[in-house]
Amino acid sequence: MTNPAPSPLLTPYSSNSLSLPNRLVMAPMTRFRAHEDGTPLPVVAEYYAQRADAGLLITEGIWPHRRGQSGWRIPGLETEAHIAGWRAVTEAVHARGGRIFAQLMHGGRQGHPRSRLLGDLPAGPSPVPVPGPVHVKDGKAEAPIPREMTAQDIRTAIDDHVNAARNALRAGFDGVELHGANSYLIHQFLADNTNRRDDAYGRDRTRFAVELVTAVAEAIGAHRLGLRLSPGNPQFGMVEHAPAPVYRALIEALNPLGMAYLHLTDNDQYPALADLRPRWNGTLIANVGENHAPTTQQQGEHVLVRGHADLVSYGRAFLTHPDLPARIAVNDPLATPIDTEHLYTHGAQGYTDYPTLAQQRAKQLAARAA
Ligand SMILES: Cc1cc2nc3c(=O)[nH]c(=O)nc-3n(C[C@H](O)[C@H](O)[C@H](O)COP(=O)(O)O)c2cc1C
Repeated sequence: MTNPAPSPLLTPYSSNSLSLPNRLVMAPMTRFRAHEDGTPLPVVAEYYAQRADAGLLITEGIWPHRRGQSGWRIPGLETEAHIAGWRAVTEAVHARGGRIFAQLMHGGRQGHPRSRLLGDLPAGPSPVPVPGPVHVKDGKAEAPIPREMTAQDIRTAIDDHVNAARNALRAGFDGVELHGANSYLIHQFLADNTNRRDDAYGRDRTRFAVELVTAVAEAIGAHRLGLRLSPGNPQFGMVEHAPAPVYRALIEALNPLGMAYLHLTDNDQYPALADLRPRWNGTLIANVGENHAPTTQQQGEHVLVRGHADLVSYGRAFLTHPDLPARIAVNDPLATPIDTEHLYTHGAQGYTDYPTLAQQRAKQLAARAA
């Protein structure tokens, strides 16, 4: 019997910006493993190093400045302590031969005075609250009505991202991903219900994203910069009645920059991968699992075989299988369940204790021998 062809997820990929041993990207996942001041806990280095066989790791969302903090014990990239904390992470990943980008996640309207170091109201494009309760330091609370960002607030938010991106390079990251998906600040400017402004940033809802990406690209180099988008994703009450023209225009404006990648989340509202793939002239990372069961090996392979993307990001499968490439190589069913009890706690449990396949097999053998 001949061996089956290796999974397309395990073939190398290279572009002007990236040189990756496989096409598996670890999707950003917030895990709340930071000190109260936003410095990542020591265990974070071990967590990412365990997963360093990924083609590319993207960190959990990190606030560029405490002004953009969306939740308590989410990490930051603002202070020298943050940079030192992240340097331990990048060194551990590089020591295992991996590559890691930092995701900058500005909350915009997301957040609550009781989950922010500044203790103030979060600010977004328009004073439109998140529907329903939000997490705070000590439980849940009604989402506040955010303050409407002034023109100065917008300039400050761009500067905060530029500084944080520079800090990311100082911390040893290989690049930066801007979080323009899943209801965070950039998405709030792109969506119609959260951007009701009548200034230039409202008349052209792509303007903030284009200015921000351009400023960060100038600061750190476009080849070190990715952008995540989730057109039409209704998470946290986002409404986009006609995403196609907005995102087509955005992509057209960003194409000339020569960015490292676009990270695109597909969903039932709008087949963004099929629509935007032919319009984007750079590397495309697909994420296909939003709001459904964790992305499977077959789903990722299907995306590559259809030519809808160059790379595929996996969230939950990477969370529960630190050795995901090795498991894909043997068509493992990826059946390790998520320890939901410890998903958002602050320790090693449910974080760095997921076994590799080799550890799982050794345990089974030991149990049989006993
Ligand atoms: C625990 C958890 C935390 C997440 N945090 C983030 C985040 O910080 N930034 C982000 O862009 N997406 C975040 N996501 C979304 C994931 O990146 C990914 O899009 C989602 O899990 C679907 O992919 P999957 O089916 O492979 O898990 C998170 C998802 C999970 C499960």
